[in-house]
Amino acid sequence: MKDTIRQLIQQALARLTEDGTLPSGLSPDIQVETTKDRAHGDYASNIALMLAKPAAMKPRDLAVKLQAALPAHPQVAKVEIAGPGFLNFFQDEAWLASSLDAALADAHLGVHKNGPQQRVVVDLSSPNLAKEMHVGHLRSTIIGDGVARVLEFLGDTVIRQNHVGDWGTQFGMLLAYLEEQAVDAQAELHDLEVFYRAAKKRFDESPEFADRARELVVKLQAGDPECMRLWKRFNDISLSHCQQVYDRLGVKLTMADVMGESAYNDDLPGVVADLTAKGLLVESDGAMCVFLDEFKNAEGNPLPVIVQKAGGGYLYATTDLAAMRYRHQKLHADRVLYFVDQRQALHFQQVFEVARRAGFVPASMDLEHMGFGTMNGADGRPFKTRDGGTVKLIDLLEEAEERAYALVKAKNPELDDAELRQIARAVGIGAVKYADLSKHRTSDYSFNFELMLSFEGNTAPYLLYAYTRVASIFRKLGKSFDEAGGRIALEQPQEQALAAQLAQFGDVLNNVALKGVPHILCAYLYELAGLFSSFYEHCPILAAETPQQQESRLKLAALAGRTLKQGLELLGLETLERM
Ligand code: ARG
Repeated sequence: MKDTIRQLIQQALARLTEDGTLPSGLSPDIQVETTKDRAHGDYASNIALMLAKPAAMKPRDLAVKLQAALPAHPQVAKVEIAGPGFLNFFQDEAWLASSLDAALADAHLGVHKNGPQQRVVVDLSSPNLAKEMHVGHLRSTIIGDGVARVLEFLGDTVIRQNHVGDWGTQFGMLLAYLEEQAVDAQAELHDLEVFYRAAKKRFDESPEFADRARELVVKLQAGDPECMRLWKRFNDISLSHCQQVYDRLGVKLTMADVMGESAYNDDLPGVVADLTAKGLLVESDGAMCVFLDEFKNAEGNPLPVIVQKAGGGYLYATTDLAAMRYRHQKLHADRVLYFVDQRQALHFQQVFEVARRAGFVPASMDLEHMGFGTMNGADGRPFKTRDGGTVKLIDLLEEAEERAYALVKAKNPELDDAELRQIARAVGIGAVKYADLSKHRTSDYSFNFELMLSFEGNTAPYLLYAYTRVASIFRKLGKSFDEAGGRIALEQPQEQALAAQLAQFGDVLNNVALKGVPHILCAYLYELAGLFSSFYEHCPILAAETPQQQESRLKLAALAGRTLKQGLELLGLETLERM
């Protein structure tokens, strides 16, 4: 709908340019927003305020001209001017009702992508395998998975890439320790964090050990078979730990999505050679660097992007350059989304720019860093265990399920244990995921079990419960959502408000896909649940006045149910039929 209104405004602008009201050469970014209060229509645009100045007119006068120039459209019942010159669009109720009838009959709920379908690489999760996966990678995993699901729903081809840190100097240390301990049994590696700390301790206290570690890195990088064998075994164990977390979270990631740093090892000399050939490399203190004018430090000195160290070693940036080239040449990506901590923003700005200058990616390929804020504890301080250690994801998920179990059991003591466990899993894991997804991606966020498990507010338990209420209406009638017949007619204001919200599902998903911000889908579903509640309270279904009215209301309820379920599924939440 927003797109339709934008097109109508575009046509009105063209008319006004033709008749000389507006100067030619304007190409404004036309903003259309949904209104907060339905008394002001369904959608509003500030276009007259934006163009008043170049048109040398009062905003309201321009709004009057625009209103007159807008072509008629079956979806728009009327357009009004409000305040200083806003254009308010009122949706046609009959058209709205029939579009919802069509949405309910469609497996995709009438949702389409605005614009062409694309091949999108989603770079997500990407933990460092030397250590156990921790909360820092939780956000990337959950948010990346949510956005990937929305892109897929809109028809894009999504290629997930888990760019794990499986290469680099810390592996020398781990191999040295593995060798020294003659650790053979998998059991010893059961706790990677403990293993890593023990290795680090040896590294720090023994110069001989440290030398041996450095020797092993060189051997590893030269492809020594024994080193490779140990390294591979270590990574396999570490990856299987990650996979446990993904499965527990219900995140769509498998071993097939792993394309770690080591996979680009053989490409790195070529990256450096290509940068040299393009004349982009400068030697500085023995290191090979790219200097870009737009990146300077606080003192105004140029900041280098180092691609090869003085000793010949390659860096994180070099690997990312190789990965971009691969994503263009082999994966044929139109768009690459990087779900990585906001603190790496400079790194991505730099490598994107270097890749473009070097011609590793064409101008048509979009590179977007979808940065996110830090995850803190409930006290707003960095998330740590009581003794200051890093919190392991698997422990966190375990605790979420335990807490959810206690809550659900207190509410429904009569349920049998197997069902309680199943509900607790959906609620506990859902709560952890939803709490993360519902915050603005770029803000820091405080992890708080009490808040995320509350049955009130914008939380997973509230929404999962809202869905079960819709499901129970149909269960009582012995019907499924698809069996709602008849036609939707929008009589009461609560029906109209619910309908208008339902009609926005497609716009919301397109926005999530465009900006990589699942929190707007969360806000949408939360609002939808609220509108459904007031509809259900004011518009009796079973005690409807006529059979037609009952059919219409049931259809609205069915569409609300399907939209909630679909929306939650796109966020990666498992819905329950009762709880
Ligand atoms: N392993 C990195 C880290 O933990 C994240 C990698 C993100 N992806 C990338 N292409 N650089 O910081």
